[in-house]
Amino acid sequence: MKDKLIKIKNTVLDKLNTVNNEVELKAIDLQYFSRKGEISELMHHLKELSSEQKREIGALANQIKKELESKMKETRSFFDEKTNLNEVSDITLPGRKLKKGHLHPITIIQREVEDLFTSLGFSIIDGPELESDYYNFSALNIPPLHPARDMQDTFYVSSPDDKKQELDLVMRTHTSPVQIRAMKKYGAPLKVVIPGRCFRNEATDARHEHTFYQFEGMMIGENINFSNLKSLLEIVGKKLFGEDTKLRMRPKYYPFVEPGNNGEYTCFLCGGKGCRVCKNTGWLEIVGAGLIHPDVLRAGGVDPEKYSGLAFGFGLTRLAMLKYAVNDARLFNSGDLRFLEQF
Ligand code: PHE
Repeated sequence: MKDKLIKIKNTVLDKLNTVNNEVELKAIDLQYFSRKGEISELMHHLKELSSEQKREIGALANQIKKELESKMKETRSFFDEKTNLNEVSDITLPGRKLKKGHLHPITIIQREVEDLFTSLGFSIIDGPELESDYYNFSALNIPPLHPARDMQDTFYVSSPDDKKQELDLVMRTHTSPVQIRAMKKYGAPLKVVIPGRCFRNEATDARHEHTFYQFEGMMIGENINFSNLKSLLEIVGKKLFGEDTKLRMRPKYYPFVEPGNNGEYTCFLCGGKGCRVCKNTGWLEIVGAGLIHPDVLRAGGVDPEKYSGLAFGFGLTRLAMLKYAVNDARLFNSGDLRFLEQF
């Protein structure tokens, strides 16, 4: 019995030391280590020994069994590792595609418009999204209780002091407050554009979202006049919607410009014939614009006797909706990858 044990030990160790591949290893496993393998078989025969022999040989058998099992384990892990190495180094396998991020559709449009204006000599600046009541409204000729505030209701943060209304904060309703900030900071002459996020208290629907993006422009100099505004808006239209695009300007009231107007472009989809997108008018209302009101220049510390200026603003969100034929403004902020991955 003792001899048998030693013999099996040597045979198995030998085999494990010279095994070449996993198939051979499996065969060894089956022959010796399985439930009906030779090792179990031997252990089974221990029962037939006298109790004295059992004590001696039993101990030896257990020791050999343990030793072989640990050698088996070691050999198996050697092959496992080898398999892993083979996997890593198989350079002929086709690679797994990494998902790359990409720009948000609003950012794509924003960059396109920024490129146009920097090529025309404008600088890009920005301002705070949480704005003072003063910059957002009062400095732009919209004093407290002015009805124009109704159209741009927003999210207010009250000042701790009820009487100091000028300390009230609002989530800015447009990018126009940065006009004042820019004049104060840089003085005149000045050529800047201001892209940015704006907020309004809206009952949201497909065309109204509480958070949206605008693009503001402003130019101040000694002889800035209405024809400068018109030619600039013509260039913008051609760049955004194509060379054949025409502009028409219709009067519109904004308290911070005088005269104020609405810039409309021929519909890029139907070329002005009338379609669903332009509601059969042939025209798309895109941009609010005008010559900067003297009071607004003064609020920015610019002398209206010496300087005049033009300003305009349009919705980047609306532009993106038109260009990409998106029918719901809320999709842009939804974070829904099924939507975003289309751009
Ligand atoms: N701030 C205006 C709006 O949000 C747009 C505008 C900007 C109009 C500049 C005139 C001049 O509707």
